[in-house]
Amino acid sequence: MRNWITNRELMKSHFDATDFLDEESDQVQGINPPPVESRILPDAVEIALPRYDSVKTVKPDLADCILHRMSRRKYTTESITLEELSFMLWATQGVKKTIDAYNNRGTVTYRTVPSAGARHPFETYLAVNNVTGVKPGIYRYSALKHSLIFLFQVNNVEEKLTAATVGQSFTGDAPVVFFWACRPYMGEWRYKGESHKAMLLDAGHVCQNLYLAAESLQLGTVAIAAYSQSKVDALLKLDGKDEFVVYLAPVGRVKETE
Ligand SMILES: Cc1cc2nc3c(=O)[nH]c(=O)nc-3n(C[C@H](O)[C@H](O)[C@H](O)COP(=O)(O)O)c2cc1C
Repeated sequence: MRNWITNRELMKSHFDATDFLDEESDQVQGINPPPVESRILPDAVEIALPRYDSVKTVKPDLADCILHRMSRRKYTTESITLEELSFMLWATQGVKKTIDAYNNRGTVTYRTVPSAGARHPFETYLAVNNVTGVKPGIYRYSALKHSLIFLFQVNNVEEKLTAATVGQSFTGDAPVVFFWACRPYMGEWRYKGESHKAMLLDAGHVCQNLYLAAESLQLGTVAIAAYSQSKVDALLKLDGKDEFVVYLAPVGRVKETE
């Protein structure tokens, strides 16, 4: 059997009644859940984002956005605005409600996207190259605070992005690139080995909202799953074990010809 055939098991549901009960999850064992998002260091440079609705969508009609959504890979050299970025971050991971849960041992967030068990296992990282008023660099989105946390600068980011996406140079050309990094324990804490399929399904919802949000702003994006795991994780300084990228998408202003 070809070795990748075993990967098919990941695509199947393992929420079988016996399996589900015979090995208790960390949640059932009373272990505290991991925090909703990574810690913000006390000396971090934080940029408060404008409200998600501070930008007027160019195409407010949902059916129009669904109809015209397509993968767009050609971007102009124009910047995008902080208001546009705020809207796209909110559409992809924005928090609508926070509740105390698990017998007050943790917090659950309800967001603009669904997530199995409301575990929301992703951190959003951005490679900012050309966003008005934001210095280029790698940022993390705090969904709880709706703010950007500056992490570090990267030299020659265009070349590194292109190399990290196996030569897809439009990633390096984009004014901003979204990366969704999974913290797998977010799902495993509740659903053990059954969580992994669900977390990948979650990522699809996130990226679809980016497509639709970008379309409504007359911006363009494309989902990217063909990338070098080691190069992308190294670019964002992720450990590749407890946190690693599962999906990414460049966003830019579209060329008229697209
Ligand atoms: C999971 C997934 C991974 C994808 N990965 C890539 C990619 O690495 N590079 C790329 O150019 N397009 C990628 N795409 C975009 C598809 O090629 C695109 O959705 C498809 O050709 C249909 O075109 P449309 O989105 O314009 O309808 C990906 C799409 C999905 C859903």
